[in-house]
Amino acid sequence: MARVPLMAGNWKMHKTRAEARAFADALSADAKSARGVEVVVCPPFTALGVLAEALEGTVVKVGGQDCDSHDQGAYTGQTSPAMLREAGATHVILGHSERRQYYGETDASVNEKLKASLKHGLVPIVCVGEKLEEREVQLTDNVIIVQVQRALSGIPAEQVGGLVFAYEPVWAIGTGKTCASDEANRVCGLIRETIARHVGPGPADDVRILYGGSVKPETIAEQMAQPQIDGALVGGASLEAESFAKLVAFDQVTA
Ligand code: 13P
Repeated sequence: MARVPLMAGNWKMHKTRAEARAFADALSADAKSARGVEVVVCPPFTALGVLAEALEGTVVKVGGQDCDSHDQGAYTGQTSPAMLREAGATHVILGHSERRQYYGETDASVNEKLKASLKHGLVPIVCVGEKLEEREVQLTDNVIIVQVQRALSGIPAEQVGGLVFAYEPVWAIGTGKTCASDEANRVCGLIRETIARHVGPGPADDVRILYGGSVKPETIAEQMAQPQIDGALVGGASLEAESFAKLVAFDQVTA
């Protein structure tokens, strides 16, 4: 089955509500009506509502950058999947390396959040990736396999096809060092094989697998030409409406 490409922006801790509105105004009409590609922007929680409103009637969806695994309760500082939905989110990034590195996110908590997101109808974008020191000692494949297996633990096969994974090598995030496209393709293929071992090849073929890490308009065409790469999870280059629109139009970009 042909997988619909997915271009997702992760704004991290950037942009106020006013700046989010300005981004939505500045985003080109082409990006707002793009066909054949799914487009998602993940702003900080505070800007979710205004961004969802400002993009209403366009093809651009909005997502959260994390969520809690509980429905509600005494969890100071947390945001539930239902709250994200109510604010207009359709997607949620889970297990980003910055959350793993700075906020104690583990494979087990990612798995809990994944289950909670699915329960509330959010599409999870599950991030996996190795650190530089792991790559240097040939541990990349082990790290990826373990992260994917643990994320999928207890997820019913029929729900797996709708998931999105993102391969984000930690050393490529915000560094300007992109992973070579053929290597990114290889690791995305490994993610798909690992999913297939869990649920069989059918659902694994439906899963979208994104590449993330210093993605720019100049590199996107080559990345998207790789058979295992179905899209991109973009940090820095998603902050400017113009460069994000170029990424959305990846099939018109010449590298
Ligand atoms: P950059 O595109 O800024 O390297 O960030 C990647 C990322 O972490 C997306 O989630």
